Amino acid sequence: MTASGVMTAPVASCIERRARLAARMQPGSVAVLATAPEVLRNGDSDYPYRHDSYFYYLTGFTEPEAVLVLAAPSGDVPARSILFCREKNLEREIWDGYRYGPEAARIAFGFDEAYPIGELDAQMAKLLANAPALYYALGHSAALDAQVSAWLKAVRAQGRSGITAPASTHHLLGMLDEMRLLKDAGEQALMGRAAAIAAAAHARAMRFTRPGVFEYEIEAELLHEFRRNGAQFPAYTPIVASGSNACILHYNQNDRRCREGDLVLVDAGCELDGYASDITRTWPVNGRFSAPQKRLYELVLRAQEAAFAAIVPGRAYSGMHEAAVRVLAEGMLDVGLLDRSKYGSAEDAIADKAHLQFYMHGTGHWLGMDVHDVGPYRDLGVAEKPSRPLLPGMALTVEPGIYVRPAEGGPAEFWHIGIRVEDDVIVTEDGCRVLSGDAPKGVNEIEELMKER
Ligand code: GLY
Ligand code: MN
Ligand code: MN
Repeated sequence: MTASGVMTAPVASCIERRARLAARMQPGSVAVLATAPEVLRNGDSDYPYRHDSYFYYLTGFTEPEAVLVLAAPSGDVPARSILFCREKNLEREIWDGYRYGPEAARIAFGFDEAYPIGELDAQMAKLLANAPALYYALGHSAALDAQVSAWLKAVRAQGRSGITAPASTHHLLGMLDEMRLLKDAGEQALMGRAAAIAAAAHARAMRFTRPGVFEYEIEAELLHEFRRNGAQFPAYTPIVASGSNACILHYNQNDRRCREGDLVLVDAGCELDGYASDITRTWPVNGRFSAPQKRLYELVLRAQEAAFAAIVPGRAYSGMHEAAVRVLAEGMLDVGLLDRSKYGSAEDAIADKAHLQFYMHGTGHWLGMDVHDVGPYRDLGVAEKPSRPLLPGMALTVEPGIYVRPAEGGPAEFWHIGIRVEDDVIVTEDGCRVLSGDAPKGVNEIEELMKER
């Protein structure tokens, strides 16, 4: 935190990332990256401002109306990073709060130069003169695309004086996706704290739950715990899905009254200093799992254990999904959700995609500054584009589930049960480290905790 209360990523990490990116660019070329715009919600109220993740990754700077320009080194000329940001403005600061202004931002965030955002167009015409290539997020923002076109036109107009415009443009975000995929020690520590806060929120929500409470009351407990621990935002709209709502994957109305005998599925994570956690737990509203609920719940736990075991550096990302699906399909046959007389084995059921009736989503995703974080899931350098091998430092969720909508012939005792269990992990040298393990998960653990109510 700064004196103004604004969070900042460690400056040294951002400087190192800018240097690493500049070293990968064509010598003398220029990269341009804007932060996110402010967005009007209604009337004259904005949505709470959230910086662009790529921009924050390279700058640590969280004010709106800011652009980073990076000039790659060339021969003896070192790399330069340049910030364009809002100017100091006493009147606006009285109304809206502190702004760094270019000079203080340059010093605080380690830029080589900084200018008022209003000078961007004029400066870019100079910065792009004779640069061999331009790197930017083509198609990310129509406004920036138009500005870039105008800059290139302005540089080309100087052609008679021997000035050349960039001969090629490159998609900047692909390079940053690969960098963001591997979390450094600082990022891992922050993600661990975001997961610990979300885990405490789940435990608090369990202690609060009882028949008769509304889903939104449980949501309020989660949000309270996030905020009181310093998390700035929920990482996404929390899902608090009781009873049959748990079978709606993206349910988030959160307005039903929880009833005796229901399970409640809660998918909620927080964002702490720009990094997300993403945790799901499912628990009984009355504090005790019924026999059918317990049977499916423990199946999902076994599927998650199998998925954890498949997270090993060098093994394919897809391995954890395959492992979870195998356990779930076997369990679906065991409990009678799938018909043994039709499918002799889990493999047969999977080959026929029969498991998709009850488990229709993937087993996880990259996690980082964005809850569904960036980075390809496949090795794009290989013609067949196979699932990419895991590497130490990657962060992902592991979230198997089972969702039983009523179906003719299916065992009615399982109808309307929806269960998901989701944890956040970092790939280590020999497996994975679970960040969200403090969120109660075992049947006994949850039932014991809920006895405290
Ligand atoms: N909460 C979003 C997800 O689990 O992917
Ligand atoms: Mn998730
Ligand atoms: Mn989730």
